[in-house]
Amino acid sequence: MSPLNQFDPQGRLRHLITLEGLTPDHILDLLDRAQRHVRPIHERPATGQSLAGLTVANIFTEPSTRTRASFELAARRLGADVLNLEIMLSSRAKGETVLDTIHTLQAMSTDIFVIRDAQPGVCRLVADHVAAHVSVLSAGEAHLSHPTQGLLDALTIRQRKGGFETLTLAIVGDVRHSRVARSAYQVFSALGVGELRIVAPAALMPELGEMPLARRFDSIEAGIAQADVVMMLRIQKERMVQAAIPDADDYFIRWGLTAKRLTLAKKDALVMHPGPMNREVEIASEVADGPQSVIRQQVTNGVAVRMALLETVIAHRTLRQGPV
Ligand code: CP
Repeated sequence: MSPLNQFDPQGRLRHLITLEGLTPDHILDLLDRAQRHVRPIHERPATGQSLAGLTVANIFTEPSTRTRASFELAARRLGADVLNLEIMLSSRAKGETVLDTIHTLQAMSTDIFVIRDAQPGVCRLVADHVAAHVSVLSAGEAHLSHPTQGLLDALTIRQRKGGFETLTLAIVGDVRHSRVARSAYQVFSALGVGELRIVAPAALMPELGEMPLARRFDSIEAGIAQADVVMMLRIQKERMVQAAIPDADDYFIRWGLTAKRLTLAKKDALVMHPGPMNREVEIASEVADGPQSVIRQQVTNGVAVRMALLETVIAHRTLRQGPV
């Protein structure tokens, strides 16, 4: 595989597979563009025609509610045709390779592939083999990367806190198996967050050397003390052998974010969670649904971020092929 280059020869973003390599300017441009698509949920959503005549294919081989629905809504609200491939009902189930599937859909004029896959490297493999006008966007790659989640998390924090430099952000739970944590680490390191903490039991901590700028904590009480943002993570059972999965009740007692524990963070601390949540395992319902929770705002921002990204990558196509 060639070195990953997410930019076209003119320096425009063509693919988004990882946030690694994006500058603060790239990230802030995407956040600014996304902000323009945010509407209060009781108003009609932002719409446009910038993707009219283009086709977006969602290819998810792992379950998803938020990411898949929001990529679909984002594409439709910008006027695209959207194809959702049901992988178990597709010819992948009959042994077709991922690249044959991609080339088949490309032959039907797919312009943007949105891919979630449990296997590391699939997004990049596809990006290496699609036609020059086609873009590949990761909707979550194994434990490695979930770039649009990182962007929507950053947008949510910027809306609530105004910036990043003075903040202490604690990422709590199964950091080891979490693509959300890795993309959060990348985006918040790039944006210069004041202090980044990873807070996890030893078995759920990433390898030493990973996330080198983060402070490590092996107790939730110490890790969230005086934090401005507490980002809770689900235990990624699907990436663990059965024997290593912690007992849910025991985990909640030792690691669950309860209202009492939350008082250790700053009074106005934000509580975040990428979803799906396992209530009363990593987070108490009273916290998830409480006044400090911005979990639903994260979901709302997911559509805006994905609209911004779709618009950004089609600029690459417009440059190569003339206005669409
Ligand atoms: N946050 C997230 O990726 O949620 P889904 O798995 O529901 O898409």
